[in-house]
Amino acid sequence: MDLRKFEEGVRMTASKKITVKDFQTMKEEGEKITMISAYTYPIAKIIDEIGIESILVGDSLGMTILGYENTLEVTMEDSIRHSQAVARGTNRALVIGDLPFLSYGIDDHETVRNAGRLIKEGRCEAVKLEGGRERKEEIQEIKAIGIPVLGHIGLTPTYINELGGYKVQGKSTKAEERLVEDAKILEEAGVFGLVIESVPWKLAKKISENLTIPTIGIGAGQYCDGQVLVIDDLIGLTSDLKPKFVKQFANVGSIIADAVKEYLEEVKSNKYPSEEHRYGN
Ligand code: KIV
Repeated sequence: MDLRKFEEGVRMTASKKITVKDFQTMKEEGEKITMISAYTYPIAKIIDEIGIESILVGDSLGMTILGYENTLEVTMEDSIRHSQAVARGTNRALVIGDLPFLSYGIDDHETVRNAGRLIKEGRCEAVKLEGGRERKEEIQEIKAIGIPVLGHIGLTPTYINELGGYKVQGKSTKAEERLVEDAKILEEAGVFGLVIESVPWKLAKKISENLTIPTIGIGAGQYCDGQVLVIDDLIGLTSDLKPKFVKQFANVGSIIADAVKEYLEEVKSNKYPSEEHRYGN
């Protein structure tokens, strides 16, 4: 791709707010959709200014920001608080809030209320929830009050105890068929897009070709209509387990460590603060 043309394109469209309609147009025109999971104001500002089309305030924030073992402890309050921060830092990207574990799946009214809270209090423009056919009615109910819904199938981290670990999904013929069916059911229920996580690339390709709505892949190969990565993985802030699909585009963790080390050494050796960093004559 011609980088200059690409940069011009980003500048020209920089002020136009991205909506779920643009996702559909991008699928139809064969333009890849970019999405990043991010949770804070300053990072959202950078991502938005670069021209990424969408920020997902993922429940992965439980691990990346709050240090939880998995996503199960994340609350509506966590999701709302971080969605607000991201929304404040975003002008153009579509902001998608993530419904955390137990905010759906119990009672449809409660699900709709929680989805509504992410829009009203969290200032999101769409919501995401995990699961296949079992989410059909809830998705229809959320959509009925005007909230766009992003589906999420494959490796769904809130099902971690059921799945028995962060494993690639859809490997058997039966599991593959079920995921293809789930994707179709979710499309018919009205999701505007579908995250497909950790499945073999051929299966993700098949699902993507079988749907009219865009698929957003993570660990699902290059034939999805878009891609999503967690910002901490992308910039090298996560030191724990690194799944095969993660490409680390920078090593910010080591830049931070070097800066903190230098600060420590300079304070200990009385080098910082120097005259230029103090007040008075
Ligand atoms: O929570 C999250 O960040 C996600 C993405 C990885 C899709 O669900």
